[in-house]
Amino acid sequence: MDVDRLAGWYRWIEYLAFGRALERARFAFLNRLAGARRVLVLGEGDGRALQRMLAIAAGARFDVVETSGEMIALARARVGDSERVRFFRQDALASALPEKSYDAVVTFFFLDCFTEGELRELLRRIADRLAPGAIWLMSDFTSEPGWHARAWVWVMYRFFNLTTGLRARALPPIEMLLSEIGMRRTDVRHERWGMVVSEVLLYQRGGGGMLP
Ligand SMILES: C[S@@+](CC[C@H](N)C(=O)[O-])C[C@H]1O[C@@H](n2cnc3c(N)ncnc32)[C@H](O)[C@@H]1O
Repeated sequence: MDVDRLAGWYRWIEYLAFGRALERARFAFLNRLAGARRVLVLGEGDGRALQRMLAIAAGARFDVVETSGEMIALARARVGDSERVRFFRQDALASALPEKSYDAVVTFFFLDCFTEGELRELLRRIADRLAPGAIWLMSDFTSEPGWHARAWVWVMYRFFNLTTGLRARALPPIEMLLSEIGMRRTDVRHERWGMVVSEVLLYQRGGGGMLP
């Protein structure tokens, strides 16, 4: 997936399609990061969430792994120079993650960029870098609510397949795969008639299972 060409437009395309719903989803549980020390942010995009996270988690250091140079430039411009942020322009799937022990992971509209096989592998590698009791903030799409959500998701995949070369063509089973690595959901909120989900998950090493 190469979003460089879209990066400057990304925010406006999002507002046109979804209004502020995705922003509400990203920001829903950011306060849970308040006590975090080391945060891994995957596929941050243009820095809107990072800017808020820096203010909320005032004692935390952030490692941002992002393939798009343009997105990193936008994020840098937004958050300014901060010794609490390190940007890694790299493919999270194809390279080692920067540190060994994070107490928080943030993925907003990122896990949907992968096929089921890719995501299973990626999550396994992320889990390997989590401290016991780490939290995971996740927002993403779900087609659970029914035909209207499936239609939106279909349109979005076709759009990103065409404009960015995204290989994945359908939503992977995000909930199931997070559960497989031992992430247990503790909070959930929905936006946009249920098709956007925000979750807080807690890492329980060696144990799977989502709350009902
Ligand atoms: C759909 S955008 C979401 C951006 C932002 N997090 C948001 O909430 O809108 C996915 C982001 O993940 C990045 N990305 C996609 N695949 C990646 C990978 N394998 N490794 C690192 N970043 C990746 C893209 O460059 C893009 O910025």
